[in-house]
Amino acid sequence: MSRILVERGVAVTSGGSMAADVLIDGERIAALLAPGSGDPVIRGEVRRIDATGKLVVPGGIDVHTHMEMPFGGTYSSDTFATGTQAAAWGGTTTIVDFAIQPRGASPRQGLETWMQRADGKCAIDYGFHMILSDVTDQALKEMEGLVGDGVTSFKLFMAYPGVFYSDDGQILRAMQTAAATGATVMMHAENGIAIDVLVEQALASGLTDPRMHGATRPSVLEGEATHRAIVLAGLADCPLYIVHLSAAEALAEVTTARDAGQPVFAETCPQYLFLDEGLMSGQDLEGAKYVCSPPLRSSHHHDMLWNGLGSDDVSVVATDHCPFCFKDQKERGRGDFTKIPNGLPGVEHRLDLVYQGVIAGRLTLERWVELTATTPARLFGLYPRKGSLLPGSDADLVVYDPAKVRTLGAASHHMAVDYSAYEGMQIEGGVETVISRGEVILDNGTFRGREGHGRFVPRTPFEGLSVPRPGAGRKKDLVLGGTK
Ligand code: URP
Ligand code: ZN
Ligand code: ZN
Repeated sequence: MSRILVERGVAVTSGGSMAADVLIDGERIAALLAPGSGDPVIRGEVRRIDATGKLVVPGGIDVHTHMEMPFGGTYSSDTFATGTQAAAWGGTTTIVDFAIQPRGASPRQGLETWMQRADGKCAIDYGFHMILSDVTDQALKEMEGLVGDGVTSFKLFMAYPGVFYSDDGQILRAMQTAAATGATVMMHAENGIAIDVLVEQALASGLTDPRMHGATRPSVLEGEATHRAIVLAGLADCPLYIVHLSAAEALAEVTTARDAGQPVFAETCPQYLFLDEGLMSGQDLEGAKYVCSPPLRSSHHHDMLWNGLGSDDVSVVATDHCPFCFKDQKERGRGDFTKIPNGLPGVEHRLDLVYQGVIAGRLTLERWVELTATTPARLFGLYPRKGSLLPGSDADLVVYDPAKVRTLGAASHHMAVDYSAYEGMQIEGGVETVISRGEVILDNGTFRGREGHGRFVPRTPFEGLSVPRPGAGRKKDLVLGGTK
């Protein structure tokens, strides 16, 4: 078993920051030691990684990715191999992707398909949520078994009628079953029935450009659907996680529910914090690069979301990584915006982009870690195995260099997609070294990962309201000493 000492860095967790050496033994974190105090404890061979001037943080956990996802007659362009390598470059050491129940088939069949796709391919650990696209009695019956097998969260769609859409009755039944089995319901909250009317009217008027994708998905329809999802979850007594929240109206609904003590959690994504709706109006189909659902919004919404990240009304930043190449994939939407596959690339840039919130003084370092690793782990049954630097936890960690400065772009990223949504953006800070279960997979800027290193991680059921609001009786999870 190999041992590693990450020395002289500043260890940052959601609970606090301090100068510490992190000792790794095999696949686990063995101890956090006072700087330089390890030598009497450490006997035998140990690899030393110098983290002077660097931050040492738990590996990132991206609980919203779509590798090789079928959509609109094509597949998202990152495979589990390429997508997890790109994630590793960006300091993410665990993804939770979405297996899909095919319509007319069972969730179990969907899980088997996705398990086969990922098996032996991933560079980092991975788990699955289940997309329920056909809420039948059989599907409801299977939920308990899936929870037992570590698939403890189920995504439902209020959008995409005829594809993934569930009506309110199906949603309520799924939520009741989730409540009875310890599962969490994840909701794509946009009113798809109303959106389809607006889409039909736009096309009938000859309005076919990518910008119409945004115009036909107004923020009020996200707010309305979020409200409805919260009411139904309250009725079913089921924990609710709103995925890819983009709109101030939706955030207001989540805030009201959380203030009333309802277990409702919101996730947003970097694209909703940084990218403006005007990007969908680019010349010559350029706008298609920015088509995702919900759509990009204006800076007013960005500001509200940043405030939500600070106040914990938004609990998680994930990416909704769902890349489609501009050539041949996004281009399918020439002359009809409804044919543009929905989704943006981003799995590689999440830690860096959220870190810009630290630079701007909007977030603390601890909150950065909480949003990108600890809370995702807690909400999705991975904590304390992942998302912390506790002795006994998986040795997934990142050495982050706050002094690095880079420009993002398609020429330098590692995602299998021919454009960057953040082309030309300057980033302060950067990932230097990444360790996944005790293996150095990014070594001071050199990739040393491999397909098949990543393992499927079964997740435990939702554990109640264990995520405190910032500063409210937070558990300290940074303690020096105590090898395990
Ligand atoms: O546009 C998006 N978000 N594509 C991925 C599928 C989804 O709804 O998350
Ligand atoms: Zn969605
Ligand atoms: Zn998604």
